[in-house]
Amino acid sequence: MKRTYILAIESSCDETSVAVIKNGHEKLSCVTSSSMNIHALYGGVVPEIASRKHVECITLVIEEALNKANMKMEDIDAIAVTYGPGLIGSLLVGLEAAKTLSFVYNKPLIPVHHIAGHIYANNLEKAMEFPLIALVVSGGHTDLIYMKEDYSFERIGGTLDDAVGEAYDKVARVLKLAYPGGPKVDELAHIGKDTYDLPYPLDDDSYNFSFSGLKSAVINLNHNEEQKGNKVRKEDLACSFQNRVVKILAKKTLKALKEYKVDNLIIAGGVSANKGLRNEFEKLSVEHNFNLIIPKFEFCTDNGAMIGAAGYYAYQLGRRANLDLNAKATDKLN
Ligand code: KG4
Ligand code: ZN
Repeated sequence: MKRTYILAIESSCDETSVAVIKNGHEKLSCVTSSSMNIHALYGGVVPEIASRKHVECITLVIEEALNKANMKMEDIDAIAVTYGPGLIGSLLVGLEAAKTLSFVYNKPLIPVHHIAGHIYANNLEKAMEFPLIALVVSGGHTDLIYMKEDYSFERIGGTLDDAVGEAYDKVARVLKLAYPGGPKVDELAHIGKDTYDLPYPLDDDSYNFSFSGLKSAVINLNHNEEQKGNKVRKEDLACSFQNRVVKILAKKTLKALKEYKVDNLIIAGGVSANKGLRNEFEKLSVEHNFNLIIPKFEFCTDNGAMIGAAGYYAYQLGRRANLDLNAKATDKLN
């Protein structure tokens, strides 16, 4: 089999990440520079700072990724790049670097949707088998996607308001936990108990989710307790919140597996790092006898390797972009 090497660039938010991926599943290198520590000072990502940091380090990160893979640009078959969705200023930095390399070295340019990247992060773990259901849970997305085959994405449901990661980050803020709060809420949840009476979010027959009501319930509860001079048991509130989130994600995902007669499930996006979620789905995969893939922790949040994995399949399918490829803040996954 011919070996195909993809150089992949991801810069949609606050991580500048470049990887070299062989045949869509083997990571030869993945170098990431994050500006998260600076954003933490402001309680969230500051787009202008993120863009500047990408500009400062993109060439160094590309060089290091090639060096670590022991490769030169001449050895690379194609360049994959995240064109969206994401922060425009951030995306443009990765995109311009990819276009420049594509032009100078005469290599095909492969456009990759950020969520396709999160989904294909699973292929770095184990070969994805189809048909499958993908549960995408990130800071910007919460979707249930049916995939009949490679690169066929049918969105069967998703959030009507906040994404799961967004709800986590807002809850963390109310509990005065440092940004990004998702992992901290997760840690607290593991030492707490489910003692707070919070509502179950959109527990209906659809494949849609709604997390804003649950998030508001946490905010209001915290506020009311503060007004009364009571101390909120942060770990118990985190545990009660996390249990509601995991329970509804599990319920609707199981329903999708059953109704679509699928026995392969993958979980994708930053929130797939959540230990409560991982434990619950691992338990369910045994109880309900389905194959489960969840990315390694390092490939759950934004990284270049996942773009290289998705880029490989896009390349095989003949997807190409011209040098007029532009960044998109939002775009349908297809
Ligand atoms: O996929 P990602 O890196 O960026 C987007 O594409 O949005 O996801 C980032 C999100 C953040 O909201 C972060 O708080 C959340 O993933 N996250 C977690 C955990 N680790 C990251 N949420 C809950 N539990 C975690 N362990
Ligand atoms: Zn992401």
